[in-house]
Amino acid sequence: MKTPPSTDDAFLEALRSILSDTGLVLGDEAMSPYCVDWRGEFGAPALAVTRPKSVDQVSAVVRLCAERGIAIVPQGGNTSLAGGAVPIAGRAQIVLSLSRMNAIRSIDPVGMTMTVEAGAVLETVQEAAREHELLFPVSFAAQGSSQIGGIVSTNAGGINVLRYGMTRQRMLGLEAVLADGSVVAGLRHLHKDNAGYDWKQLLIGAEGTLGIVTAASLRLSPRPKHRVTAFLAVPDPASALALLEHATAELGDAISAFELISPSALALVRQHFGLRPPMEMQSWAVLVEAASSLSGLRDAMEAALGSALEAGDASDGVIAETETQAAALWALREHVTEAELKSGRSVKHDVSVPINRIPNFIRDASYALHKAFDGLQVVVFGHVGDGNVHFNVLAGAAEAKAAINRVVHDVVAGYQGSISAEHGIGSYRVAELAHYKQPAQLELMRTLKRALDPQGILNPGKILDAP
Ligand code: MLT
Ligand code: ZN
Repeated sequence: MKTPPSTDDAFLEALRSILSDTGLVLGDEAMSPYCVDWRGEFGAPALAVTRPKSVDQVSAVVRLCAERGIAIVPQGGNTSLAGGAVPIAGRAQIVLSLSRMNAIRSIDPVGMTMTVEAGAVLETVQEAAREHELLFPVSFAAQGSSQIGGIVSTNAGGINVLRYGMTRQRMLGLEAVLADGSVVAGLRHLHKDNAGYDWKQLLIGAEGTLGIVTAASLRLSPRPKHRVTAFLAVPDPASALALLEHATAELGDAISAFELISPSALALVRQHFGLRPPMEMQSWAVLVEAASSLSGLRDAMEAALGSALEAGDASDGVIAETETQAAALWALREHVTEAELKSGRSVKHDVSVPINRIPNFIRDASYALHKAFDGLQVVVFGHVGDGNVHFNVLAGAAEAKAAINRVVHDVVAGYQGSISAEHGIGSYRVAELAHYKQPAQLELMRTLKRALDPQGILNPGKILDAP
């Protein structure tokens, strides 16, 4: 990836005077990890990669870019699955990596809150909460690399949404830098605050297109003392929903995760990582976890399993006896994305439909796809407990991507679903959003974008094609 020839020395010198050499990355080789996404699918060259150390430095960089009309791509752990955190072609832009702003500024164990900078890695935040017997429940496979700023900016979901909600539900306050370089400081720890517009909600899930999140105040929860994890073989997705009913009847709101894994996803994990389910099986699987500070979880899980087996909604199942066994069960689920990547290109879909329509959606989308294209392999998995299905298609031909998207998303639209449940629009789904979003809603989004970023310098080409 080559730096565009128009790199202007005076601009780079001005960046250097704000950031010093340690905060500036130049040169094609050094910049390339910041300019391409981790799956090697999206990206373009940048004029420079900036790595500010403070909110004042972020503000100064943004002011400089605003003066010169240079675009800024905010970046956290670069784990986006939608091309949301890397440059797009055809625009003079810099990457602004938040990774050096990674301090945990404070923890209040009584109020159960934490204030962290945008570059703090999710796993570090989870561990800091655990030291106080508290829980930051946002959790997903990339948690060892993804950072809070990106998590807030994508309103990340993950495996615990059915119990704890999306990232938005965990946010008490934000600090952010707007497109003119001004700093909005709202790192409050209030559970109730109706004093005017709740502006932070605009930035959560805006993918860095309305402002750059530099720090966040998080709402923590008590850490459940007990946890039980089970893995079940189920005949089909409809049985998985029946199993959800059995589990809810026995475990109620203690259910913290309920994940569906298709036979093709299990086969990929076995092929590329040698990981096998705990029993001989060829069917769909469900991974269910419950957590509580009250005891009796295991008995309740056994009862749920018993009634599912008796009703024929599951054909086999195991309950983990130890943390290690639970981790081995989770590994089967967490390796799906990487196994998929090892199989070559995949066309990703991150959709949600009403929970009770999931089996029909999987059936209809598979049918529509196989009718339109020959020989495609579908890899289905996801957070069925909250209605979010990853309906991914292994397809070598990149040119078929848009057509495959359209076939699947037409089915989603028929179910009144969403084309992006948790990954965001990024650059990947811009055309799809423009196609499916109601025009009045798109216009409202454009009005907000114009108001907050009149020059269109914040993460251009993400969410909206043009303001
Ligand atoms: C996951 O749930 O593992 C990711 O969000 C899905 C994906 O890779 O499509
Ligand atoms: Zn997911």
